Amino acid sequence: MIYSDLSKSIKELIEFHGIPKREVYLDYENSGLIIPEALRAMEEAYKFNGRGHPSITHLPGWLSYESLFKATSIFASIINCNPEEIVYTHSGSEANNLAILGSAVISPKGRRKIFVSSIEHLSVIFPAERLEERGFKLIKIPVDKEGYIDLDFISEHVDDETLMISVGIVNHEIGTIQDIKALRDITKDKNKEVLIHTDACAALGRIKLDMKELDVDLASFSSHKVYGPKGVGALYIKEGVKLEPIIYGQLSTQKLWPGVENVPGILGFSKAVETIYSNFTEYKSKMIELRDMLINSILNNIDHTLLNGPYGDKRSPDNINISFIYCEGEALTVELSMNGIYVSSGSACTSRVLEPSHVLLAIGRRYEEAHGSLLMKVTPFHTKSDMEYVLEVLPRIVNRLRSISPVKPSNR
Ligand SMILES: Cc1ncc(COP(=O)(O)O)c(C=O)c1O
Repeated sequence: MIYSDLSKSIKELIEFHGIPKREVYLDYENSGLIIPEALRAMEEAYKFNGRGHPSITHLPGWLSYESLFKATSIFASIINCNPEEIVYTHSGSEANNLAILGSAVISPKGRRKIFVSSIEHLSVIFPAERLEERGFKLIKIPVDKEGYIDLDFISEHVDDETLMISVGIVNHEIGTIQDIKALRDITKDKNKEVLIHTDACAALGRIKLDMKELDVDLASFSSHKVYGPKGVGALYIKEGVKLEPIIYGQLSTQKLWPGVENVPGILGFSKAVETIYSNFTEYKSKMIELRDMLINSILNNIDHTLLNGPYGDKRSPDNINISFIYCEGEALTVELSMNGIYVSSGSACTSRVLEPSHVLLAIGRRYEEAHGSLLMKVTPFHTKSDMEYVLEVLPRIVNRLRSISPVKPSNR
């Protein structure tokens, strides 16, 4: 962990900032609430059924094993696979790394081409770039202005040397829902051996996911993206698909990820997934209603705004990503925070280094449009009144920042 003077200045910032009277948390790309059902499952696990090491032969160990198996069976049945096809990691990033690096380590000779879409999460892009440095050929799949991958490009370029293709089913920044089945069909037509990986971290809880129907080889998940605890990830590995471990140590109930399983975290994760999917139809329409309330009102009432990603049904139910031209995204997040509204500018992965989001650049946004973007994610637990509060505060802040911005639209 980087521990520096930063923590001192953050403490001062918090003291200066104070706690706002009203808060609306919309930064679910980065992390968010844990739902009470998941928290209760974890508490029960820490107190009773998740204390022991699940591979050890004593009562606490057996209880942990039993609860781990039940939790995995529930998660597996929701995404329609077998419990044996799930490997737990400690984050979605680790699951993505295992998928990409674990397939490359045992790639057959002559299969050195890896395709990733140009709008993937950095936990997909970075390991693929490391492989490129080690002699693999990395090909970034172009996307159109709504973020859809170019299927013709795939059809033209996939060949006998292709090892894998990684495309997220829901884009974490702009909410584009990709047609993974079309991608698979086109790819497998060219080369049946190609592994298809999908990063499903931003999809779980937002769309229905069926591993058999999607027929992908690998899919990654992250617990905190579905209102479970942080620090739990999972990789679906289709039966028969071979991966090499990328970290080594004492193996427990699973072959690819050593160390004791985070049993309480996994029970919380599984409970979160179960809760969300038991109420899926209601939750989905609630998110869509709140999402569209924000999108429509912002686009209609604030000038010089651009929606990033597709509109309507083709967009993830929770995702709002809008560029406020002539406004600086970081300044917007700080001012919104002063009013108790928590969002991220562009991608959180890049906001600390103030680089424009690679996703927004890939869909053709200019630097200033990418820099002036806000990413907000609604949940089924937000209310219309939360959205009204955002819509009351946001235009005021945008106007104020624009009034002091050195760059102004010519027609203002
Ligand atoms: C699409 C996507 N993939 C991967 C991750 C990484 O997950 P984690 O934070 O569990 O490492 C995220 C995180 O927000 C994500 O949105």
